[in-house]
Amino acid sequence: MEDPLLVAARKTRDNASARFSNFKVGAALEDADGRIHTGCNVENATYGLTVCAERVAVFKAISEGARGFTRVAVVADTDTLTPPCGACRQILWEFCGDIDVVLVNLHGKTETYRLKDLFPKPFDASFL
Ligand code: THU
Repeated sequence: MEDPLLVAARKTRDNASARFSNFKVGAALEDADGRIHTGCNVENATYGLTVCAERVAVFKAISEGARGFTRVAVVADTDTLTPPCGACRQILWEFCGDIDVVLVNLHGKTETYRLKDLFPKPFDASFL
């Protein structure tokens, strides 16, 4: 049976509002209780106000009171699997720590990384 986290990320990708780039992304974040929080990219006519799928998932989860995350899945329609952008790595690091980042495409190809390997020298609250 397919991992529910990947199923959720792929399903949420269908909700992406990506009329400027046509690049749809879905994300799903698993919390300590095993609950799944989803997000898709939401674009904007100014372009710059676009929010990526990963950040939507994190902010939704935090706003629902979820804490203690274990994995995030990111789904896009690319042969070379799509990793989180720099801004999303920062937000994932601050709210989730060194979680598993599971990259997936529509053909079921997956690769899993630790966030620390994708974001090796983070700035975070420990500096403040
Ligand atoms: N995007 C994401 O949602 N997540 C990523 O990991 C990479 C990029 C979105 C932002 C924008 O809507 C579109 O993909 C093209 O950059």
